[in-house]
Amino acid sequence: MSKKDVSDYIKEFIDRAKELEGCSEFFNEYGSDFWSFKKLIFLAHYIRPFLDISIKNNYQPIYIDACAGCGINSIKKENVAVKFIGSPLISIIYGIHHIKKRNENNKFLKWFFVEKEDYYIELEKRIDALSKNIEMENNIKIENGKDVEILHGNFNDKIDEIINYINDNYKNKISVLVFVDPYSFSEIDWNTIEKLYDKLKAVDLIYCFSSGTLKRALDSCSDEKLKKVLPPSLKDKSRGELSLMPEEAFEEAFAEDIVNAARRSITYFGKGITTRNRVNTELYRIMFFTHLKQIAVKNITERICDDLNPLTAKELETITECVIGKAKNLKQFI
Ligand SMILES: C[S@@+](CC[C@H](N)C(=O)[O-])C[C@H]1O[C@@H](n2cnc3c(N)ncnc32)[C@H](O)[C@@H]1O
Repeated sequence: MSKKDVSDYIKEFIDRAKELEGCSEFFNEYGSDFWSFKKLIFLAHYIRPFLDISIKNNYQPIYIDACAGCGINSIKKENVAVKFIGSPLISIIYGIHHIKKRNENNKFLKWFFVEKEDYYIELEKRIDALSKNIEMENNIKIENGKDVEILHGNFNDKIDEIINYINDNYKNKISVLVFVDPYSFSEIDWNTIEKLYDKLKAVDLIYCFSSGTLKRALDSCSDEKLKKVLPPSLKDKSRGELSLMPEEAFEEAFAEDIVNAARRSITYFGKGITTRNRVNTELYRIMFFTHLKQIAVKNITERICDDLNPLTAKELETITECVIGKAKNLKQFI
């Protein structure tokens, strides 16, 4: 993926947000930064191969966004202010793949979005507006309450409802893409991750692990809460031991426990995509786990990791400035 491709994705995310102007005045600012583009590009880029390969192998694809937000993120810096669509809207736009040859759409059978804050309602308005645009562009109707379920509440409390819905309503093989993007790992109970793998089985998980908030999250959790959120291999460690663990060691143990929780063969892309600050401290890491065995998945993932990983937040900021016409043009930058 070249810087031009990265710029095309960012442009699309910004243009789509502009199309939805007027739906709502509420935007997510907390925690959005230029490096947020990495996780969103990863998601956008992976959805199509996920759909195509799942469908080709007789799976029906479903998307779950555990921490959906309000639909549009906003970054305000001295030089640049931008708004861009977030994971739920990306999953709808990229989650309908028109196959020209067959004049058919490979798409998710159902989208589940969970948001615990009241601004889930802003997401609902934006999805209604996006659906109208999609109907005009692709002649396909995506309806809230039918194709899309927005659940207001904590993912840890909603997970059973989602799993039961899927298992009760779909009798064919299901392949589920789950996007987990909390502010801190302590917002998702370990048991919730186990349930995904126990009850849904064919799960691909994109887990955006906030390394930058790990130590703060560990400090602010009560002992009882810690027990709920720590994975098995870290559960018996003392607070002292946990606080001395480097973030990367914690994350590797966490990821290994996810692989074990799957209790079937899944592939973990350990190198993932990380973002570091100026003094080379990790801010976050995209952990990706797939149940799909096709070589194409391995190739696509390795390529996107290799291409996105080295991009710094500063470069993403410059690319964004080029996209919105605030900086020299992209050709000079590359
Ligand atoms: C980093 S933002 C997500 C941004 C979103 N993925 C996007 O791309 O626009 C985290 C969101 O997850 C929500 N959240 C965090 N933990 C949650 C949980 N356990 N259940 C439901 N929502 C949660 C927060 O309220 C916040 O809106």
